[in-house]
Amino acid sequence: MMLHIPNVLTAAEVARCRTVMEQADWTDGRVTAGHQSVQVKKNLQLPEGGAAARELGELVLAGLERTPLFISAALPQRVFPPLFNRYDTSMSFGSHVDGAIRFLPGTGQRVRTDVSATLFLSEPDSYDGGELVVEDTYGHHAVKLPAGDLILYPSTSLHHVTPVTRGARLASFFWIQSMVRDVSQRALLFDLDTAIMQLNQEVPKSPSLVMLTGVYHNLLRQWAEP
Ligand code: NI
Repeated sequence: MMLHIPNVLTAAEVARCRTVMEQADWTDGRVTAGHQSVQVKKNLQLPEGGAAARELGELVLAGLERTPLFISAALPQRVFPPLFNRYDTSMSFGSHVDGAIRFLPGTGQRVRTDVSATLFLSEPDSYDGGELVVEDTYGHHAVKLPAGDLILYPSTSLHHVTPVTRGARLASFFWIQSMVRDVSQRALLFDLDTAIMQLNQEVPKSPSLVMLTGVYHNLLRQWAEP
């Protein structure tokens, strides 16, 4: 499931991200790449665990916490500390699958990557190219969102970032270990939750809503590894 989640960050928060990123020191993006993706990755990153990434990471995590659509879709158990990248003109990231397990720096803790996330931080008209393209059995899906918006996509999918041909593309990227590991179970829960929310608007007094909400929680109880 791919899902566009608008307005995870406010305009002021996006501006803060861009200010910090403009003044920051950058490293080669290959530092966090695995054996296969290191061969096709050409971009820059804020140093993992550095002051800039930590400050902006807190901003992103706070944005996620106040976004019900993110919680409903990802059912997060653990979120990897957000990383930040920059693609200047001629930079790109060829086709790859994200590594299955990421280590939380300095803790020895592991995060299984169930859901991948890209939070766009540059306005789409400020650069050309730089689309995130996710490949699945339905074809290729090119994504380029307004600054502050997030795309979620399954970490199991092949994806790439097309070359930037003008300007620079700033983004945050991270992974989520979901309480519900199975993508089809997670999608069912999301559909059910979405339908319950809509019924809450349309027929708020319906006794069936109580039962449906019970079904949601009882499925979650069966499937979740909290
Ligand atoms: Ni990737």
